[in-house]
Amino acid sequence: MKENVLVTGGAGYIGSHTVVELLQCGYGAVVVDNLSNSCEESLKRVGQITGKEVKFYNADVRDKSALDKIFSENKIDWVIHFAGLKAVGESCEKPVEYYDNNLYGTLVLLQAMREHGCKKIVFSSSATVYGDPEVLPLTEECATGGTTNPYGTSKYFQEIMLTDVYKADNEWTVALLRYFNPVGAHESGLIGEDPKGIPNNLTPYIAKVAIGELKEIGVFGNDYPTPDGTGVRDYIHVVDLAKGHVSAIDCIEKSGVYIYNLGTGKGYSVLEVIHAFEKACGHSLPYSIKPRRSGDIAACYADPSKAKHELKWEAKSGIDEMCKSLWNWQSKNPNGYKK
Ligand code: NAD
Ligand code: UFG
Repeated sequence: MKENVLVTGGAGYIGSHTVVELLQCGYGAVVVDNLSNSCEESLKRVGQITGKEVKFYNADVRDKSALDKIFSENKIDWVIHFAGLKAVGESCEKPVEYYDNNLYGTLVLLQAMREHGCKKIVFSSSATVYGDPEVLPLTEECATGGTTNPYGTSKYFQEIMLTDVYKADNEWTVALLRYFNPVGAHESGLIGEDPKGIPNNLTPYIAKVAIGELKEIGVFGNDYPTPDGTGVRDYIHVVDLAKGHVSAIDCIEKSGVYIYNLGTGKGYSVLEVIHAFEKACGHSLPYSIKPRRSGDIAACYADPSKAKHELKWEAKSGIDEMCKSLWNWQSKNPNGYKK
């Protein structure tokens, strides 16, 4: 077996897909998750896909004694830190909960890692740290900050915290992976995104309209300075994204702070995504134009060339495959992981 990886938030959407890729590439994986936004069934499905059982701890990353137990019982070489709260709108209503979970959670994790001599971490950051972009595509050198909600600000602060940890102790390896818009599901249709309640994000919302659970898609604004007036984003297949984490662990050999955009480099508008999904599900989808959503930006897409050169990683799937895989997951699991 290659190195052993502790995956915080590993029962969640991106975490479960990453555990599959780690196991399939010969890494060991231990998961800690408090199941606040996921369920253990996702890890059972990971076991079905990989034929390997995942060692799981139902615990909160803010619980230092739980982390001590995990590090004592397992030799951990790397941590991939997904655990956190991620809903932009909710973060504006509950800033204290968001800073507590995301910032305090990361601090407790760093304390445990330091005490147990594990100094290699991959962190789930986000394109949101770039705020409203001045130039596109976004390179890793573009300015960060100027975030417009507590969720985004927590990502920005966590990047600074992790960078300071390296500055104080050059033995640390810190990889900050800035994800663009992860969508889609594993090709097996066994694991995927399972949002609670009405989805906030575009593609899970479209998928629920496609199965008839929701009536119509609201397109938030068609007066942006984009080709068709609707918002443009860099959608990336979640399996490509998951593989990016494995590439980071494979390729980063020396200590330091490494920052990578994980995106495709190509932007799609809301209307283009709706039409791609119509192809995937085989029927047309009702939508109507609504006012702009507060805090949204017109367009955001990555320059992913740094990850390509340094991590030998590149996103392979296009929007059609992303929609096809999401439809496969949604139609096989109309109620998500619930039976
Ligand atoms: P998710 O909610 O599916 O996964 C997060 C997991 O962390 C969940 O299983 C949840 O139960 C767990 N968790 C939350 N707080 C915890 C805590 N204190 N202790 C232990 N477990 C905890 O979300 P996701 O989409 O898989 O996102 C994973 C990470 O990637 C998050 O940090 C998120 O901010 C980041 N990210 C996501 C996106 C996106 O659009 N999905 C984009 C950029 C960055
Ligand atoms: N949109 C709609 N209707 C909807 C939902 C979204 O028109 O019902 C539009 C938005 O206005 C935007 C685009 O679809 O133009 C994408 O919106 P999402 O909510 O899917 O994604 P965001 O780009 O707003 O944000 C997501 C995550 C953030 C993360 C960011 C960058 O929610 O956490 O990607 O990674 F930071």
